[in-house]
Amino acid sequence: MSETKMPVEPYRIKTVEYLGRTTRREREALLKEAGYNVFNIPAAKVTIDLLTDSGTSAMSDNQWAGIMTGDESYAGCRNFFNLEDVVKDIFGFAHVIPAHQGRAAERVLFSAMVRKGDYVPSNIHFDTTRANVEDRGAKALDLVIGEAYDPDSDYPFKGNMDVVKLKNVLETKKGKVPLVMMTITNNSGGGQPVSMKNIKEVSQVCRHYGVPFFFDACRFAENAYFIKMREKAYAQTPVIEIAREVFSYADGATMSAKKDGLVNIGGFVTLDDDSVAERIKNTLILSEGFPTYGGLAGRDLEAIARGLREVLDESYLEHRTGQIAYLGSALEEAGVPFFKPVGGHAVYLLADRFLPHLPRPQYPGWALTVALYREAGIRAVEIGGVMFGRKSGKSGKEIYPELELVRLAIPRRVYTASHIQYVADSIIELYKNREKIRGLRIVRESPVLRHFTVRLEEI
Ligand code: F0G
Repeated sequence: MSETKMPVEPYRIKTVEYLGRTTRREREALLKEAGYNVFNIPAAKVTIDLLTDSGTSAMSDNQWAGIMTGDESYAGCRNFFNLEDVVKDIFGFAHVIPAHQGRAAERVLFSAMVRKGDYVPSNIHFDTTRANVEDRGAKALDLVIGEAYDPDSDYPFKGNMDVVKLKNVLETKKGKVPLVMMTITNNSGGGQPVSMKNIKEVSQVCRHYGVPFFFDACRFAENAYFIKMREKAYAQTPVIEIAREVFSYADGATMSAKKDGLVNIGGFVTLDDDSVAERIKNTLILSEGFPTYGGLAGRDLEAIARGLREVLDESYLEHRTGQIAYLGSALEEAGVPFFKPVGGHAVYLLADRFLPHLPRPQYPGWALTVALYREAGIRAVEIGGVMFGRKSGKSGKEIYPELELVRLAIPRRVYTASHIQYVADSIIELYKNREKIRGLRIVRESPVLRHFTVRLEEI
């Protein structure tokens, strides 16, 4: 059996939710109806849903108890102050401004800081931060280290930013860089962590050039745990102190609490600068709501406050990262190709190596998501030719992204060891029968973000 032991859940189950169960024949019909797009499959018809780790966490009894203490006053509800206390304790910035989710936090921050013609570097921007930067008429730059694009490199901090490239941008674009972002962990680069060393260096460079440094902190606890595991000097440091040190090098952060906040909705911006905070609050009132609730109910704020404490529990983080490592090691033993090392929240299959008989125009990643649903009722997401393919110039020829991936994102505290084993077994079975998997062609698509609505047929 596998070298890595199946980690034991550090919690037990109090409420159960039945899984969607379907027959292969039903799934076949559902796929046809859905235009071979798993986004169109009703969730009730999915057995194990690995579409995203965002907003899919199971809350604890402590969080549900907190929900009952929700104070639904319009202004100054007690749960806001609880959230403010926790965020200040971990992140350490002067202002805490709630928003309904991560992208809303990004939008209000960038509308206060970013102007037309600016440049905003990051290691790799997540889609929504990129879109929000571009919506301001600015350019989003990805400055991650080269190893990030090598699926076989087992470099421990593939989320790191290339400091030389950053210096170069700050030198050549003086006055045009309103802030530097850093995504922890680096979701679009395989959920890979950033080291404390790299964070310190980036911070020093930003200070030198007088440019504010912000984190996209969705998965900050997973990143802090990787620092503890992989950066020797931190092996004995409590994760909460690692997180505090990480944020001590920055000027602020945006947060989608739907990830490491262990809640189903919510987010915030937190920062030191008084005048930027003032401008953010003014925009917030226009779209999200009064600054002590920012588009959330009092009870939601309480759930985030409690989730942020729970996520730093080291037995939780050991299990969380262990569950993903276990899935990786089971696949490794069977020779299934995936992006190395596994990230903090997901395993990314290398679909072009999994299905070498399918050329890129037949969308191997997409074909794998279809096969995974048809054979096992598992829903994953393609991050490849359908999601990021671009039509070039007059010929309309499609250009494909470098990597053809299928992300298996694991929701927090939701699936048990046997569910993960079922996922591993199903993928291994699929790999053994891989030559039977057929390619697809697109029959209908929209001009932007086509993966959400695209319809295909099998070749
Ligand atoms: N930043 C990162 C790194 C993210 O992964 C996400 C969301 C966001 C920002 C936006 O947060 O969804 O609360 O508005 N990632 C989800 C995913 C959607 O599936 O990876 P949001």
